[in-house]
Amino acid sequence: MISNESSREQWGSKLGFILAAAGSAIGLGNIWKFPYVAGENGGAAFILIYLVCAAIIGLPVLIAEVLIGRTTNRNPVGAFKLLSGSKFWTAVGGMGVIAGFIILSYYAVIAGWSLGYIVEAIKGEFNNFPEPAQAGEHFNSLVGSLPWIIGYFALFMSLTMWFVLSGVQKGIEKGSKIMMPVLFILLIILMVRGLTLDGASEGLEFLLKPDWDHVNAQTVLIALGQAFFTLSLGMGAMLTYGSYMSKKDNLFTSGFQIVILDTAIALIAGIAIFTAVFATGLAPNVGPGLIFHTLPVVFLKMPGGYIFAIVFFILLTIAALTSAISLLEVITAYFVDEKRWSRKKAVYVFGTVTFLIGLPSALSFNVLSDFHLLGLNFFDLADYLSSNILLPLGGMLLSVFVGYVWGFDKALIELKRGAEKIFERYPLFIKLWQLFVKYFAPVLIFLVLLHSIGVF
Ligand code: PHE
Repeated sequence: MISNESSREQWGSKLGFILAAAGSAIGLGNIWKFPYVAGENGGAAFILIYLVCAAIIGLPVLIAEVLIGRTTNRNPVGAFKLLSGSKFWTAVGGMGVIAGFIILSYYAVIAGWSLGYIVEAIKGEFNNFPEPAQAGEHFNSLVGSLPWIIGYFALFMSLTMWFVLSGVQKGIEKGSKIMMPVLFILLIILMVRGLTLDGASEGLEFLLKPDWDHVNAQTVLIALGQAFFTLSLGMGAMLTYGSYMSKKDNLFTSGFQIVILDTAIALIAGIAIFTAVFATGLAPNVGPGLIFHTLPVVFLKMPGGYIFAIVFFILLTIAALTSAISLLEVITAYFVDEKRWSRKKAVYVFGTVTFLIGLPSALSFNVLSDFHLLGLNFFDLADYLSSNILLPLGGMLLSVFVGYVWGFDKALIELKRGAEKIFERYPLFIKLWQLFVKYFAPVLIFLVLLHSIGVF
């Protein structure tokens, strides 16, 4: 039995874990990224491919990642060190912590926009933009303003730090238990609003009727990358959350529940956004600006739009916050477990460091907009490096680790704890999990990776 320090915190309940993990998974990836990526890649056809990726790669890797955390009760570095004793695998854990810094540094910048847009919505600013072009200009002037972009970025980082500072049960779990239900309710309200607009059926058709002409190899790769990002896989966030999990809980079914919740939220967000976009006659495929350029116009044209705009940006901010918390928790857990720092010191120091690392990303929209490295500005570089390289690489190495290094003999003993019934009744699921972790995940992710670095 692997050592387990009694002083280490645990989730108060199984639901606490599921909501916190779903909170990590559900974020800007679902509400900001998923709709525009689906919009650009053929709508329903992309969604179908994405669902397959989430089921056959996302879910098995998620289970493997949480399992490593629950087995070791450690942060990513400590977990790999404990299970392998090797420098290489410890470094793989370290890569996760570094990915956490990088993702949080730019993620919090976008989340800051969302926070700022709550204020814009309350001020009624959207009334001034009958066309997306004007909303786009306004957006550009906001992100061009240093006090605006840095101020909201700092505010969002402070909120994130506040939750992580309060600890696993009192901060993360309690926060998720309040914020996640609010998020579900707000999103359902928005979906109903979308569905009841005249012309909503066109939006539904876009989401439900596959357009296979848009689909090619690239679409598959984008869908897999999206599955990784949206499920918070490949950098140790799920591993760290798993490390606070009780051995009595059924990790296998929790994995299913998290993937289903995350996917359901992405789909509901898609319905809410596209019914509204089509009902107001706007274009679905405008890219990352969909939320910040198009939605304000949608809200202006829709009855009750003033309130729905506020609701929407509150929802987006909550979703981003519960994800950012999981990113900062990975870094914090590392310094608390491995370096024996107090939680307070770790959060203050690394919250600040992340803010400083994020400044060049925030400045990419104004003073540093002409600075390019490998053809990308700082913000895009951070996004590209983490989402397209570090996360898939981390996920691939993690599945190789479980499939070949740690080995299924040991992994299955751990997986069985709390899931005895599943092992008895559905042995096929367990077999499939092994098959996917050992062969499918590493090979498919390897292909995505080759694609991201431009090999094909
Ligand atoms: N899953 C989060 C989202 O969809 C992003 C995230 C990635 C969070 C990696 C933690 C780790 O927004």
